[in-house]
Amino acid sequence: MKSLIKKIISPLVIKCFHYLWWQSTGTWPKNTYLGYEILQCPLDLQLYQEIIFREKPEFILQTGVCGGGSIVYFSSILDMMNASTDTKVIGIDIELSEQAKTIKNDRVLLLEGSSTDQEIFKTVTKLIEGKKGLIILDSDHSKDHVYEELSMYNKLVALGCRLVVEDTNLNGNPVYPAFGPGPFEAVCDFLSENDKFIPDDNLWKRNLFSFHQYGWLKRIK
Ligand SMILES: C[S@@+](CC[C@H](N)C(=O)[O-])C[C@H]1O[C@@H](n2cnc3c(N)ncnc32)[C@H](O)[C@@H]1O
Repeated sequence: MKSLIKKIISPLVIKCFHYLWWQSTGTWPKNTYLGYEILQCPLDLQLYQEIIFREKPEFILQTGVCGGGSIVYFSSILDMMNASTDTKVIGIDIELSEQAKTIKNDRVLLLEGSSTDQEIFKTVTKLIEGKKGLIILDSDHSKDHVYEELSMYNKLVALGCRLVVEDTNLNGNPVYPAFGPGPFEAVCDFLSENDKFIPDDNLWKRNLFSFHQYGWLKRIK
């Protein structure tokens, strides 16, 4: 009975809860952080907080800003850690929202344009060259776009640092089955061609589920 619960019933219950919670409009889409819309699962925000405190990144870069809640969240953690103001939080969005434009924090830098635009990439590379930081991909979730982001931004991840591909739960993994190939499929292709990164599954599995499951990558070579 114990092994039936562990192997079949528990994973099924977790998947069903993940699905129900994600597709309920009253849950995460309504969350805000210090007044800013934040499109994240709170369990994942807990993991980010632990990573930032433990690993002390010299920058945090997120593609896809939306309301800016994640940018405010990351910068407020760095503020509470008394991190140097040289530790920047950089956000890139194809169209910065009015709400994101109101963020006032010296460490926050917002860039408008596509994350895969060569000029934007050059600007970002100049800003973070030689630094050890955390890179998070949360913009256009189509497989092709995420794969292109992975191919570009993995070069800016230092040894031992993290590259997080968000929303790997799309396309029936287990949410939004009709989405089509997305972040999870892009991660699978990327990892099959690149042995410098591994998925850090122990990180999120202790919380039972993550919107970014299998997307918490770490550079090991
Ligand atoms: C899922 S939302 C980001 C949520 C945000 N990171 C958060 O945690 O609250 C996706 C954002 O990606 C932006 N976006 C879409 N295509 C993009 C692209 N090619 N480059 C940069 N941003 C893009 C959209 O404008 C939107 O604001």
